[in-house]
Amino acid sequence: MRVLVTGAAGMLARDLVPCLQQRGHYVLAPPENDLDITHLDAIRRWTESANPEIIINCAAYTKVDQAEKEEALANVINGLAVQNLCLACQEGDIPLVHFSTDYVFDGTKAGPYTIHDHPNPINAYGRTKLLGEKYVLWLLNRFYLVRTSWLFGIHGPNFIETMLKLAGKQKQVSVVNDQRGCPTWTQHLSEAVVSLVESGRYGVYHATNSGPTTWFEYATEIFRLAGTGTEVLPITTDQFPTAATRPKNSVLDPFPLTEVIGREMPPWQEAVRQYLEERGRAPEP
Ligand SMILES: NC(=O)c1ccc[n+]([C@@H]2O[C@H](COP(=O)([O-])OP(=O)(O)OC[C@H]3O[C@@H](n4cnc5c(N)ncnc54)[C@H](OP(=O)(O)O)[C@@H]3O)[C@@H](O)[C@H]2O)c1
Repeated sequence: MRVLVTGAAGMLARDLVPCLQQRGHYVLAPPENDLDITHLDAIRRWTESANPEIIINCAAYTKVDQAEKEEALANVINGLAVQNLCLACQEGDIPLVHFSTDYVFDGTKAGPYTIHDHPNPINAYGRTKLLGEKYVLWLLNRFYLVRTSWLFGIHGPNFIETMLKLAGKQKQVSVVNDQRGCPTWTQHLSEAVVSLVESGRYGVYHATNSGPTTWFEYATEIFRLAGTGTEVLPITTDQFPTAATRPKNSVLDPFPLTEVIGREMPPWQEAVRQYLEERGRAPEP
């Protein structure tokens, strides 16, 4: 397939592009200064000249806390720009892959959120991502709307790197233990999304590594696997205030992704282990 990827410099895109190429797809991944998704004319220029068979939108405003102060800007990138992409997809009859987030949910549900559950975001970032979801649902017939969560990847700042940096400076780290979610490696997400795109089964999906955890349990596993000997102290969200409120539970149920691609995404512990291995092989930045 000829695939146009937006947001090429981002953490997910930098794993997704080689993954698509390894599976035999032809990828166009222009930098943001060549394809700014807030400009409809720029998107049209690319769809008309490159004639993609599918567009994968990895571009987004992802600063969750800063979005509390910049909701208007986040709405333009995560909302209105998605409308631009949908219009270009309509005009060229091109399907769209769009990524959304567990933070569209309010976190009050006891169990995992399914694709049937109603979003009710409790922070600005979640509201802007929900607007993007709505444009996809309002405007397109052929789309994959993929919600994911707690991403970590070799090409971006992430929780694992934050924890390892702290472990280099201190013996003890306090980590929130009352927010549940699913850490997800961008490499595993990329593999699942390529399979999904190859399936031709459009719809709404939840794609995360399997198994729920808390930030505290996640940090404990990171330090165990990395062998840092760091002590982790569980704290509550109230003891670690942030600008944006996070849902207490944002575990995503994988139905129907597992059925469509024919496999479960690997457990998050395995993803962390593989990430640390790959990180060990990567050249120093
Ligand atoms: N990271 C997570 O934990 C997480 C969790 C759930 C869902 N998601 C979703 O997963 C997707 C990928 O996230 P990610 O972690 O890979 O994000 P990321 O690393 O922040 O990548 C997004 C990329 O989009 C670029 N961008 C911003 N505005 C743009 C524009 N107008 N036109 C073109 N590119 C633009 C960004 O550039 P700048 O850096 O220069 O702004 C950045 O390179 C997003 O839809 C995100 O909402 C992420």
